[in-house]
Amino acid sequence: MSQIVTVPTQPFDGQAPGTSGLRKKVRVFQQPNYSENFIQAVFDVVSPEPGAVLVIGGDGRFHNRTVIQQAIRMAAANGYGRVLVGKGGILSTPAASHVIRKYRANGGLVLSASHNPGGPDEDFGIKYNIANGGPAPEGVTGAIHARTLEIDRWLTVEADDIDLDAIGNARVGGMTVSVIDPVADYADLMEDLFDFSAIRKIAASGFTMRFDAMSAVTGPYAIEILENRLGFAPGTVVNGIPLEDFGGHHPDPNLIHAKDLYDLMMSPDAPDLGAASDGDGDRNLIIGRGRFITPSDSLAMLAANIEIAPAYRGRLAGIARSMPTSAAADRVAEALGVPCFETPTGWKFFGNLLDAGMATICGEESAGTGSDHVREKDGLWAVLLWLNILAVRGISVDELAREHWARYGRNYYARHDYEGIETAGANALMDGLKAQLAVLPGKRFGPLTVSMADSFSYTDPVDGSVSANQGIRVLFEDGSRVVFRLSGTGTQGATLRVYLESYVAPFGHLDAETTAMLQPQVAAAEDIAGIARHTGRTGPDVIT
Ligand code: G1P
Ligand code: ZN
Repeated sequence: MSQIVTVPTQPFDGQAPGTSGLRKKVRVFQQPNYSENFIQAVFDVVSPEPGAVLVIGGDGRFHNRTVIQQAIRMAAANGYGRVLVGKGGILSTPAASHVIRKYRANGGLVLSASHNPGGPDEDFGIKYNIANGGPAPEGVTGAIHARTLEIDRWLTVEADDIDLDAIGNARVGGMTVSVIDPVADYADLMEDLFDFSAIRKIAASGFTMRFDAMSAVTGPYAIEILENRLGFAPGTVVNGIPLEDFGGHHPDPNLIHAKDLYDLMMSPDAPDLGAASDGDGDRNLIIGRGRFITPSDSLAMLAANIEIAPAYRGRLAGIARSMPTSAAADRVAEALGVPCFETPTGWKFFGNLLDAGMATICGEESAGTGSDHVREKDGLWAVLLWLNILAVRGISVDELAREHWARYGRNYYARHDYEGIETAGANALMDGLKAQLAVLPGKRFGPLTVSMADSFSYTDPVDGSVSANQGIRVLFEDGSRVVFRLSGTGTQGATLRVYLESYVAPFGHLDAETTAMLQPQVAAAEDIAGIARHTGRTGPDVIT
């Protein structure tokens, strides 16, 4: 057994990891001891039993392999008995969650900066997931952060890099490293959940689709599942090879960064379904021929139909959505007689509800949808559930959407992002909002009158923990709403997110332009928050 080496070190800058772990520029992670300090802080906090199993995988971005090799040596020095690592260092975030659960691992290191760009001058990230397969809860991330502020050594063994490209076992120190097929376990799980034969039938009888993997991690998963197992034509998956810099693009499946897909879907040559996923495979974009589905609507539409999929028959216990996500899902929950939970932004808040069997499906407006099959949001899962529903019901995306709105009404929805703004201005804006909360109710902004305003605080119904300060909600009497919050995942300056929503009941204007429908809310947001004054910007950088 190789010797354990103790490397003296200094605490690092100590910025608290956000909702998605530690996310920084690659150059920051490349500083001596930086990744090591964080990984050691994780190991110190979770203090694995000798022989414990750890899963390691990432989205394949630049710097992934370097950190994986170091993490393997450190795991060996910290007493782990076995590391499971995806071939090529690859594991999509939902696949990592599944592998942690399936092999009863203690936890996993998920290396990703999600939808942020990759490359030597771009972003990297490390997140720790616990034994249920989900992101560590705030108690654990807080302890890890505290540990990074006092750490003075990290442990490693002296060992060569392992061959990450050869499936099989290797020894590092006293530990076994198993390089596993990153796709097989996940693809088998999808086959257990969904009616693959129904989907195969529509694929064989002319239903067409395009899946844009955005040169990120889902390429190999989508090729195996959509083309090999479901029989969609070769070439259905585009940009299917994971690249370290994602081909220079933002692997973010929205209408800006997946514009080619959007343009195709709005053209006469559109296939029946267009879909995309992000850098690490947890987000999804769904576009029917001529019909974009907002993530909030997708959650509601999937929830309304989820029992069509074999693994969900007769077992929808509840729906959960993040607070800024539209209330479309609430109406489905009400109609189906199941509870709807409103959680803070970030997937980790769904974990307890899923573990307790209180929620079965959950989602966020930021293109994340998932269920109790893993403890992360899951891009391909959402695409497959859509396919399963369309295959069994024999209708198009557009028909399904229209039918849904005619029954439940429609929540028009948009998010305006102001990126890379000065932190001081962003904080002043949020402070200004907080100072107004008490006086806003009853105030008029154009046609809108405020009915309620608060700073969202969440009490977890399972463990009673309280998460305060999760965004400012301003509700209007007509059922519309504006929400303000600062992003927790950015790596430069601050990002202000303004979420806008208005509701039209069945038999109202169900096919209007979103921009026009939200104009009063946009104006009210500016009046209430003074966005231009605090940010120096006259409009958002990104509208999704
Ligand atoms: C963003 C999204 C949030 C999502 C997170 C991780 O966080 O808004 O819904 O869970 O990315 O993908 P934010 O930057 O808003 O803190
Ligand atoms: Zn992601």
